[in-house]
Amino acid sequence: MNPAAENLLDTSRHKALGTNFRQLVGNENTWISKLEDVLQSQTSYTAWDIPLHIHNGARRLSVDCSLAPVRCNNNLLIVLEFFTLARNHRISRDETLFSQHHASQTLLRQLAHEIKNPLSGLRGAAQLLDRELDQPALKEYTRVIIGEADRLTNLIDTLIGPRRPFDMVSTNIHMVLEHVSLLCEPDLGGINLIRDYDPSTPEIIADPQSLIQAFFNLLHNALVALQPQTDLGQESQLILRTRVQRQVTIGQQHHKLALRIDIIDNGPGVPLEIMDSIFYPMVTSRPDGMGLGLSIAQSVIMRHQGLIECDSKPGRTQFTVLLPFVNQELTKLSHDE
Ligand SMILES: Nc1ncnc2c1ncn2[C@@H]1O[C@H](COP(=O)(O)OP(=O)(O)O)[C@@H](O)[C@H]1O
Ligand SMILES: [Mg+2]
Repeated sequence: MNPAAENLLDTSRHKALGTNFRQLVGNENTWISKLEDVLQSQTSYTAWDIPLHIHNGARRLSVDCSLAPVRCNNNLLIVLEFFTLARNHRISRDETLFSQHHASQTLLRQLAHEIKNPLSGLRGAAQLLDRELDQPALKEYTRVIIGEADRLTNLIDTLIGPRRPFDMVSTNIHMVLEHVSLLCEPDLGGINLIRDYDPSTPEIIADPQSLIQAFFNLLHNALVALQPQTDLGQESQLILRTRVQRQVTIGQQHHKLALRIDIIDNGPGVPLEIMDSIFYPMVTSRPDGMGLGLSIAQSVIMRHQGLIECDSKPGRTQFTVLLPFVNQELTKLSHDE
């Protein structure tokens, strides 16, 4: 137990030695049973946002944890690491974040409905009026009404994101990322785009069009963040990394395998004031921003049962997307039939 762990668990190495582990971190943790699994399977395990109940629940906190088997003098041991969520202002896959996102989406959808109906009435009436008018100068006014009504409708449509049904097909994530890189090429300028792809990643069942949208939003944000320093002639770097990650827990769901995509830039970082709310619609730090990019990306990824999180500090911002290999088995089954 290192000093940081002593601090976290509010005990000393001396006191903890010989104590039952459950007493230190609380009983209700299902992940503790993973300790056995790790020893047996000798594969490592990661869990996010697990609760620690210290001193019988007197102190509660949430941490990420990783369990790794190590062999030492012929003994099989586990190295257990806790990462406190406050580190680098990580936005976690916190349950509350999920439910808040859902609540704001529902609200937006209802609001959108309430606005779009009268709006289309307004537009229709303006069209009728337009036909009755014969003076071009007056028609100018109806054109403004129609044009602005269309603009509002578009805004609302972007706000609530794509609602079409997903077309789930076997998708190569690198094709998606390459497509997005191509779309972003005009904004790439002097930015050094580094691809760190794991070529062995299996295909994933997903809706490629919406994934393109989500990753475009993430990449575009990074490029915008890097722009000022590129203009100043400083080194700008954007890394696209793909990996397969084992034993991933998202929300309450455990997955054996997930695809992990990291988008890492060496820009100024997310402004502290908005760090906790960047995934909400209409949160932006840019004068010309709509604050929808991340909200839409998150909706898309959540509909794939995955998650996005952000870890940011000046000089290094990382957005991580986890896409579990769900439905994979189902699809395989239906192919077999
Ligand atoms: N890679 C990044 N580096 C720094 N800040 C970022 C990054 N990505 C997102 N942000 C912050 O998150 C905010 C919200 O992003 P987004 O939802 O895409 O809206 P918009 O791009 O319209 O501002 C941005 O205004 C910016 O402050
Ligand atoms: Mg954006």
